[in-house]
Amino acid sequence: MTAPPAADTLVFFGATGDLAFKMIFPALQAMVRRGRLDLPIIGVAKPNWNAEKFRARTRESVIEHGGLDPAAFDKLAALLHYVEGDYADPATYARLGRALGRARRPLFYLAIPPALFGTVVAGLKGLSCAEGSRVVVEKPFGRDLASARKLNRLLLSVFPESAIFRIDHYLGKEPVQNIIYFRFSNSFLEPIWNRDFVKSVQITMAEDFGVKGRGKLYEGLGAVRDVIQNHMLQVLACLAMDAPKNTGSEALRDEKARLLQAVLPLAGRDAVRGQFRGYRDEPGVASDSRVETFAAVRLHIDSKRWKGVPFLIRAGKSLAVTCTEALVELKAPARTVFGERLAGRGDVNYLRFRLGPEVAIALGVRSKAAGEDMSGKQTELLAVERGTGEMGPYERLLGDAMRGDAMLFAREDTVEAQWRVVDPILDGRLPLREYEPGTWGPPEADRLASPFGGWHTPGVTGRKG
Ligand code: BG6
Repeated sequence: MTAPPAADTLVFFGATGDLAFKMIFPALQAMVRRGRLDLPIIGVAKPNWNAEKFRARTRESVIEHGGLDPAAFDKLAALLHYVEGDYADPATYARLGRALGRARRPLFYLAIPPALFGTVVAGLKGLSCAEGSRVVVEKPFGRDLASARKLNRLLLSVFPESAIFRIDHYLGKEPVQNIIYFRFSNSFLEPIWNRDFVKSVQITMAEDFGVKGRGKLYEGLGAVRDVIQNHMLQVLACLAMDAPKNTGSEALRDEKARLLQAVLPLAGRDAVRGQFRGYRDEPGVASDSRVETFAAVRLHIDSKRWKGVPFLIRAGKSLAVTCTEALVELKAPARTVFGERLAGRGDVNYLRFRLGPEVAIALGVRSKAAGEDMSGKQTELLAVERGTGEMGPYERLLGDAMRGDAMLFAREDTVEAQWRVVDPILDGRLPLREYEPGTWGPPEADRLASPFGGWHTPGVTGRKG
């Protein structure tokens, strides 16, 4: 198969926004540093800005997020152009058309609030180079299944599916890709990766900070829309999917879609919502807000491989620590040959995938404790441990989108399957449980995990969180 042609210009909408400041400019500088970026970059945003201000903002961004590399920054600055204007004004697209000049394959990056997607996509439709272009869309991709479908229809009215790149930055993370690599490149895993051997799977995404001034935005989201529908379900898909049929991008996306389509829509009894005490005092947050800053869910996958195995996910703000970790716990041996009572979480085999802030894959095993008795102790074998010197997710994903490689982007069917899973609990009718900042969320969440030995405290085996 021939590789798709690379983009010849990067255009990003929302150039003065928060996402550009925190993620995109630093990723662009990193790409220049690695010699992976040498094309014109056109920022589109507010009126009353100009190229000078745009460069200054880019500089501030890299200083604050990752550090200024003077040589790389100078090269990046030379690539930057700016088009100002209102997204609803046709004159903005006329200016953009002129700035694009002879470009034939621009990559349009929509780092803008979803409410503006329609306006911008309609504006792009009129550009002469629209046909050879690609578009990158940031999450949240819709607010529920119906709005995601509507958004898909809108994008598909201008771009073919192969030209739409829906970002979920978790897919750009090395340790998330490594779940798939590790699973399918080690022969000892596949035979036990099923309901006969796996007791439960847990994923925890904990953040020890609140909404960091994003209160207004967060009010329109909540934990389920912000991270469970996307990041967490993608991690679940990596943990549970079948092996792709070949090495192509679509084969991997096919298996993920198949897995997510087999996840049953959430029942109210399998979900707990929480809000940390103090959230309502955050700027931009309603004093009677019912938005959840924590959610715990218990999912079931209707497949031969996973029938009956609980997949537990919890994610929240203002929790005890910041870390993301998945734990796949295996059943105890069928017979306890040495008469030991193996009941607790730390007493059985497990695989622990630490996804951040540090990275690790560890295997929990038992080995004999020295002495006359045939009794054992729990040991953790560390399979992979890495620092954070790798390519950041935005750098990876931007590079892939420019080259036209969609493997690490969410496909239409996957996004819709993910919404189908969480849709039943989006109406806000589930009780909202208050929790203290710095804890593991509302105690009511324990109910979901207690039949399976309780929640695993990330990084600490054998103890309940
Ligand atoms: C974003 C969410 O998508 O992911 C944030 O909107 C969250 O609320 C962030 O904090 C977490 O990303 P990471 O890469 O720091 O785990």
